[in-house]
Amino acid sequence: MFSSLGAAAFVATFAASALASKPLATQPCSDALVPTQIRLAYAGDKGMAVSWNTNEQLTNPTVYYNKHEKNVLKSSAKSKISTTYPTSSTYNNHVVISDLKPDTTYYYRPQCATQTYTFTTARSAGDNDEFSFAMIGDMGTFGPDGLSTTVGKGASNPLKPGEHTTIESLTTFKNSYDFIWHVGDIAYADAWLKEEKAGYVTPLNKTDGGAEYDKILNQFYNQTEGLSSAKPYMVGPGNHEANCDNGSDLTICLPGQLNFTGYQAHWNMPSAESGGVGNFWYSFDHGSVHFIQFNTETDFLNAPDEPGGEGAENAGPFAVSGAQIAWLKKDLASVNRKKTPWVVAAGHRPWYVSTTECIECQLAFEPLLLEYGVDLVLHGHKHFYERHAAVNNGTATEIENNPKAPWYLVNGAAGHYDGLDVPDTPYVSTSRKVISAYGWNLFTVHNCTHLSTQFIASGNNTVLDSATLIKKRSCK
Ligand SMILES: *[C@@H]1O[C@H](CO)[C@@H](O)[C@H](O)[C@H]1NC(C)=O
Ligand SMILES: *[C@@H]1O[C@H](CO)[C@@H](O)[C@H](O)[C@H]1NC(C)=O
Ligand SMILES: *[C@@H]1O[C@H](CO)[C@@H](O)[C@H](O)[C@H]1NC(C)=O
Ligand SMILES: *[C@@H]1O[C@H](CO)[C@@H](O)[C@H](O)[C@H]1NC(C)=O
Ligand SMILES: *[C@@H]1O[C@H](CO)[C@@H](O)[C@H](O)[C@H]1NC(C)=O
Ligand SMILES: *[C@@H]1O[C@H](CO)[C@@H](O)[C@H](O)[C@H]1NC(C)=O
Ligand SMILES: *[C@@H]1O[C@H](CO)[C@@H](O)[C@H](O)[C@H]1NC(C)=O
Ligand SMILES: [Fe+2]
Repeated sequence: MFSSLGAAAFVATFAASALASKPLATQPCSDALVPTQIRLAYAGDKGMAVSWNTNEQLTNPTVYYNKHEKNVLKSSAKSKISTTYPTSSTYNNHVVISDLKPDTTYYYRPQCATQTYTFTTARSAGDNDEFSFAMIGDMGTFGPDGLSTTVGKGASNPLKPGEHTTIESLTTFKNSYDFIWHVGDIAYADAWLKEEKAGYVTPLNKTDGGAEYDKILNQFYNQTEGLSSAKPYMVGPGNHEANCDNGSDLTICLPGQLNFTGYQAHWNMPSAESGGVGNFWYSFDHGSVHFIQFNTETDFLNAPDEPGGEGAENAGPFAVSGAQIAWLKKDLASVNRKKTPWVVAAGHRPWYVSTTECIECQLAFEPLLLEYGVDLVLHGHKHFYERHAAVNNGTATEIENNPKAPWYLVNGAAGHYDGLDVPDTPYVSTSRKVISAYGWNLFTVHNCTHLSTQFIASGNNTVLDSATLIKKRSCK
């Protein structure tokens, strides 16, 4: 007869002997260790960052992977990074797999997962094959705590019955792009107070208003998991990541809900691989493109989200004064344009846009983007779509005419509780197309001379705008 102690000892011995031949997880699996919110990020062309959340802490977060599904448990990568913060109901686990082949599909399985997933590593710099990526800005949670077919008092632009959300539209087109780039304003958990005041949601806890904040964050990351577990989901910081109440009264925010805390804990962008800082600024190569994420929220002169900044978000800085701009200059100077003829950069707040622009962002970033011949600059923040010409300090060149200046595009229209904005008329002289509808952009890098985009209305999956940037240069 087994005593319960004996049974436990048997299980432990079995696990220990199995460990010698198969790399089993050291922690026994329980519901609290089942992975949720699985998300990927590029980590060089031979690596992949795999992150996920659990209800309890993992001692050695572990991911199993292999090129063949039946062998998925044969290789593993692990880390010691399993972090939480006050008011978070979950732990954020981060592992980087680093011995992979470029542009190759692998099966993977975070520890305690009940299914196997796949990812495809980045294309090597210098690979000239055509590829596409998806770009979104300003996407919040969908459903009763975010954007749905109803709104609270004072809000507008609900989804029409039967319309797809941007997550659904991106899911439909999942085989059309290599990765997703969300250029800031992620989840809109800080809309909780506004939603409570509008009678849209009922407070979860009368003495701890911010409980709703954590719920919305987790809901958003649950909703995007189908995308982020299959495609690298690259992110940049937006003002709605800064704190829990969108700058109106910071005393409302509990510890853990200030200073980009949730954003820092959740993601694992390739700053280590590119000399950047956290999820704030970094770069990566993919095929014929060098991609750069820069930070329009903190870490430059008069940055809007810094203490005393005009956004009143009271966050950052995240590095010593001047570090971001020095990094950007060095990163741009080191690009090998023979390998990556295209340079595409993104930062949340726009400066060419038909409503309030971020002038301090323009002063900080535009000179370097011009000096180093960046091809395309993507912004969000304004809740509409506005395609511009190529622009040098306000002077436009049409994008078919081999522009020397970057082409600018604003899309903060992925959808969140607060709906859509309407640009001011007359539109700025650099504006070429304005659309006020929920949607996302599919960018296609055809070859070294042609890069095009399509704006896709999420609601009905139709293309509402197309444009192509043409550069005169010889492709090898
Ligand atoms: C409400 O929040 C307070 C403060 O965080 C906490 O002490 C309390 O347990 C919460 N109540 C419920 C019912 O969750
Ligand atoms: C997110 O998904 C997990 C796993 O299904 C679930 O336990 C959790 O309650 C979800 N969180 C929210 C806020 O919906
Ligand atoms: C955030 O705050 C700004 C400035 O106070 C306000 O204009 C905007 O409507 C707010 N947005 C949300 C989603 O609360
Ligand atoms: C935000 O966090 C960074 C470190 O991550 C710290 O240096 C900075 O002082 C913090 N800012 C505020 C306003 O607390
Ligand atoms: C940019 O244009 C403004 C006028 O619109 C001018 O004052 C400024 O000197 C120009 N900057 C550069 C670097 O050319
Ligand atoms: C580049 O791609 C464009 C769009 O597909 C095509 O029209 C053009 O001929 C291509 N150029 C070369 C050199 O292949
Ligand atoms: C699709 O949705 C957009 C945005 O709401 C609308 O302008 C367009 O007319 C719709 N197209 C079709 C074919 O229904
Ligand atoms: Fe924003």
